[in-house]
Amino acid sequence: MLWPPARADADTGYDAWLRYAQLTPIERAKYNALPASVNVLGDSALLQTSQTELIRGVRGMLGRTLRSEQGPPTEDSILLTTIDRLRTVALSSQAPRSLEPGGYWIGHAAIHGHDCLIIAGAGAHGALYGTFDLLRRIALDQDVSRLRVTEQPSAPVRWVNQWDNLDGRIERGYGGRSIFFDNGSVRADLSRAGDYARLLASVGINGCVVNNVNATPKILSANFIPQLARIADAFRPWGVKLAISINLATPEALGQLDTFDPLDPNVISWWNQKVDEIYRQIPDFGGFLVKADSEGKPGPSRYGRTPADAANMLAAALKPHGGVLLYRAFVYNSHLDWHDLKADRAKAAYDIFHPLDGKFAGNVIIQIKNGPIDFQVREPASPLFGGLQKTNQAIELQITQEYTGQQRHLVFLVPMWKTTLDFDMHVDGRYTPVKDIVTGRSFHHPLGGFAGVSNVGLDLNWLGNPMALANLYGFGRLAWNPNLSSAAIVDEWTRLTFGNDADVVRTIDSMQLTSWRTYEDYTGPLGAGTLTDILGSHYGPGVGSAEHNGWGQWFRADHLGVGMDRTVATGTGFIGQYSPEVQKQYETLQATPDNLLLFFHHVPYTYKLHSGQTVIQYIYDSHYEGVDRVKQYVRDWKSLRGRVDEQRYAFVLGRLKYQVGHSIVWRDAVCTWFYRMSGIPDSRGRVDHYPDRTEAESMQLQGYAPVDVVPPEDASGGKAVVCNTAGQTCAARFQFERPAGWYELDVQYFDLNDGASTFKVFVGKQLVGEWIADDDLPNWRIGGDTSTRREIPGLALRSGDEIRIEGTPNGGEPAPFDYVSIHKTGP
Ligand code: GCU
Repeated sequence: MLWPPARADADTGYDAWLRYAQLTPIERAKYNALPASVNVLGDSALLQTSQTELIRGVRGMLGRTLRSEQGPPTEDSILLTTIDRLRTVALSSQAPRSLEPGGYWIGHAAIHGHDCLIIAGAGAHGALYGTFDLLRRIALDQDVSRLRVTEQPSAPVRWVNQWDNLDGRIERGYGGRSIFFDNGSVRADLSRAGDYARLLASVGINGCVVNNVNATPKILSANFIPQLARIADAFRPWGVKLAISINLATPEALGQLDTFDPLDPNVISWWNQKVDEIYRQIPDFGGFLVKADSEGKPGPSRYGRTPADAANMLAAALKPHGGVLLYRAFVYNSHLDWHDLKADRAKAAYDIFHPLDGKFAGNVIIQIKNGPIDFQVREPASPLFGGLQKTNQAIELQITQEYTGQQRHLVFLVPMWKTTLDFDMHVDGRYTPVKDIVTGRSFHHPLGGFAGVSNVGLDLNWLGNPMALANLYGFGRLAWNPNLSSAAIVDEWTRLTFGNDADVVRTIDSMQLTSWRTYEDYTGPLGAGTLTDILGSHYGPGVGSAEHNGWGQWFRADHLGVGMDRTVATGTGFIGQYSPEVQKQYETLQATPDNLLLFFHHVPYTYKLHSGQTVIQYIYDSHYEGVDRVKQYVRDWKSLRGRVDEQRYAFVLGRLKYQVGHSIVWRDAVCTWFYRMSGIPDSRGRVDHYPDRTEAESMQLQGYAPVDVVPPEDASGGKAVVCNTAGQTCAARFQFERPAGWYELDVQYFDLNDGASTFKVFVGKQLVGEWIADDDLPNWRIGGDTSTRREIPGLALRSGDEIRIEGTPNGGEPAPFDYVSIHKTGP
């Protein structure tokens, strides 16, 4: 075993929202009338899984072990079955005649004179989902005595995508290494894969693509398929289908053919045989996901073929087995000409796929990212959703927080996803919200749905932060029912994860619900993009990195103004890809909502928003407000001390405190960058004016030497100090010259990932703080990714005190720091 066994009360976060923690005696009493046994009527293994899960959940929450029975009930019972089988024992039940696959009915009926609580699925999957529904209601302390529920999923495809590499690394994964792969093979111990499938099934997710969209041909080699079959075995008891990403060049790359032209007969027959080989070993295999002609991946364009040629060829191979082919619309030219004011990456997907509408086979689904760029903190809905009326679609949402704080920052993404799902594309003047398009409702397609890039890993809490699991939970709930509100989803999640204590629930719900806006405020507001380093880790600030290169994530700031002109009238014409009604919402400045202004328009810094603020002052103010809200999260969280288990309390508090420090780094970098660019000062005098700070480079240095930080706005004053004398300790000192009182002293330092320096802070001779910089931030360089804050509160300082910072380097990390900030507090 690579990890300690999970315990229901361990609170490592391993059990996520399936903790089944014991209810209070008052809560438990509500369920006294629950039958004492649970019967399975039907043959499917999923019904057995449901029974085991129900017994496990009830035992955890109510402290009772239900009797496990097979066949028709012989006493009052909970009955797990399918609707067809139910009819054989209870003709008069009120279960609906037909339900979508995965749907279920929960209700009461008398069977042979016994009062039964029935969970009947359209098939066995439905019974499993209904079981989780019942358990959820109990955990939420809801009355189940008169339950009558009919539920069915919004769409057939409710999949997660893992971007796992076969060596065990995960692209854009922030929760540890792969639970599936290690060192080029499938792991021997797949218990985590089974436990993951259980989490997925509990929210109705029914498929998992297990490997990176940047796929290696090796996944299809003859000796790998039996290994994949083992993952499928681990998923199967939970009704989760295994699917894989494939590399279109595989027939050539694995060495058999000298082409991968999708219309070549040898290529076609290669794929047919390969697909047959897979289904022989994995009869319930889900299908393929394809990233082609994108970011250097091979694709049909090599042979002058279209995405439809490639997709249909693969789909034809999968079709006899019932498999589906998901083809990603994330296809664009990453070598655009920055000087061309008409060039626009946002236009690519529509330009390429819209002309192919109607040309895709019935088991092809086009998988479209929510926005036209790439999972930025805010984007408009991709116009392609409205541009494919004759084609199955799925929306791709990113659960892993690549551009949204990488699970170190609290960002609940469901409200963001809902802005896209609820967005009305007005296709042909009709109400056609994205959610109805991807579920197939708007254009009457039987196939379609949701893909969530989840990237869980071996960390005990799956995603690297227990709070981030709200996004995985929320993805599943939205895929099941996109009409659920963000507030309803988060409220369920909080209760399931932390219990029903009203203060805990209120506090965490509100933190989660405001967190996306907060993050947007201190990163990239007004639709400008996240403003992170797009050439590196996509984590810390890197404002200028999006400009002057071929990647096309431009926001086109100059000394006079900012924003991409995407209008039809004077810009790139992107807005013309929307229906006329939507064009009207974006084509004019007047109509465009403030929060997308810079996505659609280039405006002077002095342009006044609908709110009356100028763009530049809004940039400054929103960044300061964002930081203030993170500080409030720390206070909010602290109010929960003792009401949340100590392990998760301490972990989340640590993350939130880190977030305060990093939000300040973000704030200062973005504000400074725009101040330098625009030359317009902050009307409230905050930007570039930090009276509480003493820059490291201006202290008296002993061993430490100043260095320029690139880009300069990622460090206060553009400089840091480093201790490059190996094996020695360096020091930096200055005199405190303010009135005596109680103060907090914060050290802004850089925690690089190739060393663990030691820092000590002295007031006079007294050591007041000491720590090791051993966090694992995504960079080995001094800059916005690694800038970190250490707070030392409660210091009684006197004028004339000497403050000294000592740093001892370790590995490649030269104990670097940026500044010391001292501000007055109460005693
Ligand atoms: C982003 C991400 C890549 C990923 C790509 C994709 O660009 O940074 O790591 O491969 O999206 O979705 O294909």
